[in-house]
Amino acid sequence: MTARPLAPRPPWAGRRVVLGVTAGIAAYKAVQLARDLARLGARVDTVLSSSARRFVGPLSFAGVTGGSVHTRILATEGAALHIRLGTEADLIIVAPATADFIAKAAQGRADGLLTAILLSTRAPVILAPAMNDRMYSHPQTQRNLEHCRDVLGYRLAGPGSGALAVGEGEGPGRMLEPADLADHAGRALGEAEPFLGRTVLVTAGPTREPMDPVRYLGNRSSGRMGFAIAREAWLRGADVTLVTGPSSLPDPVGVRTVRVETASDMLSEVKKSITKADIVVYAAAVADFRPAERRDRKIKKSSGDGRTIELTENPDIALESWAGRRNGVVRVGFALETEELLEGARKKLEEKGFDLVLANDPGEPGAGFDVPTNRVTLLDREGRVEELPLLAKEELAVVVMDRVADRLRSVARGA
Ligand code: C5P
Repeated sequence: MTARPLAPRPPWAGRRVVLGVTAGIAAYKAVQLARDLARLGARVDTVLSSSARRFVGPLSFAGVTGGSVHTRILATEGAALHIRLGTEADLIIVAPATADFIAKAAQGRADGLLTAILLSTRAPVILAPAMNDRMYSHPQTQRNLEHCRDVLGYRLAGPGSGALAVGEGEGPGRMLEPADLADHAGRALGEAEPFLGRTVLVTAGPTREPMDPVRYLGNRSSGRMGFAIAREAWLRGADVTLVTGPSSLPDPVGVRTVRVETASDMLSEVKKSITKADIVVYAAAVADFRPAERRDRKIKKSSGDGRTIELTENPDIALESWAGRRNGVVRVGFALETEELLEGARKKLEEKGFDLVLANDPGEPGAGFDVPTNRVTLLDREGRVEELPLLAKEELAVVVMDRVADRLRSVARGA
């Protein structure tokens, strides 16, 4: 689950989404999903199966979306409802999708409003399975899901693993959280050139450099900026790997997240992925130095040993991963400077071979580490300088990905 501001924004804003709700206990969470989608600016029409109405009522959906709520196939204004909803939709998302509904969808039945809409639409379809783990792992359900995915091209969002309905224990079958499903909807609505099918690698967070089994050198980076960039790239259709140092943030949905501790571990993970990356964003606050020696036992106060720590330099991940890069890769870096910001950033652009650098002064209010906002100046290889206002890190991620998109397009044009 990803915490982020909910305000109308692309790709959700103004788009027509049909939210289908079938009769699972997770139906109560579909109200939250409807609300999230509406707050992101989508126009949501809800279709409840008749048994779903026993779990959750139409008024709740109408109240949070302001859109229509339907249960039965009706003729309206000449066009049948199922044809109108299916044709006008930009996206159909069924959450929760029960084992029974998935079986009907795989068979191409049209015995209810929602199944009929699936046949009438040409929009992308997302199924969010939710059921008991034994029902989920049954070969019939697995075959139906494979058919939906491989033959019909439906997207499967989840299920996740975790607590099931009361008395059913834990296992795979749990519906994904509403915020994650809203992101799946965002990717289905927003994936487009030039990110579609591209591979993005992002480093994030601090590194932790151990001196003994309990102590380490670290810094105050939260990982927020890198996580926001990874999420934004995924929403636009990229295949994303995030290599992060210790961060309390949850894995962004859809992103392959690799958690590491030290700069050396981060470098070896980056080296594994760099050869496939079309875009690399170095957002990690890598410790410049690490203790020269890592003790096996806790350093005792009485030993007097801990007063001086000898340090040795860490590898520079941006420099050391230069050799493995792909032709035409777009490299983005950060420059955190407390003085002579622009000169420092320009130097980094040159020395580290970045195409784009985000320069910021952590001393400025609202900028830098461990805050939800940042104020940066963007510098590019061609000498352009763009001062951005104070933005939420999620908003800044949007601007950065827009600039990366411009570069990818100009590379494609041979500019
Ligand atoms: O040299 P400095 O730490 O200011 O460089 C900042 C940029 O270089 C950031 O993009 C950061 O992620 C990257 N970097 C790195 N490995 C290091 C130090 C910095 O990749 N050891």
